[in-house]
Amino acid sequence: MRDPIFRTEITRMLDIRHPILCGGLGPGVSDGAYVAAVVNAGGMGFVVSSGYDAPDEFERQLAICRERVGGRGFGVNLYISRQAGGIERVTDLLPLLKRHGVTCVETAGASPEPIVPVLKGMDIRILHKVPAIRYVATAERVGADAVIVVGQECGGHPGVYMIGSMVQAAQAPRATALPTIVAGGFATGRQLVSALAMGNAAMLMGSRMMVAEELWIDRKIKDFAVRSDGSEGMVVKKIFRDNHRVLGNDSARAVLALEAEGNTDFDSYRPHVVGGVTREAYRSGDPSTGMIDWGQAMGFADRVASVESIFDEIIDDASAAMAHLGTVQAGKAVA
Ligand SMILES: Cc1cc2nc3c(=O)[nH]c(=O)nc-3n(C[C@H](O)[C@H](O)[C@H](O)COP(=O)(O)O)c2cc1C
Repeated sequence: MRDPIFRTEITRMLDIRHPILCGGLGPGVSDGAYVAAVVNAGGMGFVVSSGYDAPDEFERQLAICRERVGGRGFGVNLYISRQAGGIERVTDLLPLLKRHGVTCVETAGASPEPIVPVLKGMDIRILHKVPAIRYVATAERVGADAVIVVGQECGGHPGVYMIGSMVQAAQAPRATALPTIVAGGFATGRQLVSALAMGNAAMLMGSRMMVAEELWIDRKIKDFAVRSDGSEGMVVKKIFRDNHRVLGNDSARAVLALEAEGNTDFDSYRPHVVGGVTREAYRSGDPSTGMIDWGQAMGFADRVASVESIFDEIIDDASAAMAHLGTVQAGKAVA
């Protein structure tokens, strides 16, 4: 494991070695074993709360993570659906977080406002994830401890404005006094250095981590990710203003066809978008069906490796980038 080379508001707040976060991966993908590997590699990860048939299974993942991190803090991803019952579903899970020593949450999907007092009462840090700078104000207003700003390159939900990470990463630190974490296409140490140089306190990754050895998903999905150059993704569900960047497979194409017809009956989409189909793809290793979140950073996922090895590569790359900056400083540049 590499020595720390950066200290930021986020490494201090979360007591982590590197300013590298790995976002929640649903449904049920970022489980206890994977998140523990991220934490033990010096970053922060989030056990995803969606994708389990019963709260018991989610609780089991928290217990596995807690046991493996040896007293270190770890996080939970709370995706708050904007459909009826969304906030109630995550509210019901909150007592489990306290019981299993969760220290931070990554909230996403909708405003976490109704659960903020409970989380604060449990001394859990709130990192609210938003897809556009305009929502940073929501994170501030509700009392989040930090804000994660995701650009349109991301796997998952890029939001409806679809502004790129290079723009938003430069805007985020100027838009708020909260520590900012940037995501969407981030996967290398060079990008980490650029994010910090712009004034951000960390980067967060999703797609690049799909090749982590510790993830339970079938090896064939990881090998497919290794072969991917990031161009296989497409954005679906625009018709519902629920933009979703996924792998362009049979399910994604069926959804696009329904959208092209102007169909707004969600029931027609259900067979293609339900979590069960996606989980089965991860289990079987057949990526032809399911909503498989697929970001442009998949192009950086060039080998199946342990989380620690991926982190080492990122830190080495960041060190090289810092050294490179020294060579281009005025007065020091080599002709
Ligand atoms: C396979 C996969 C599943 C994801 N599932 C979720 C999820 O359940 N909840 C969530 O908030 N974000 C989810 N995300 C988004 C990530 O947490 C993260 O914000 C995003 O991947 C960052 O952009 P990147 O893909 O360019 O690294 C998912 C991303 C991927 C690749």
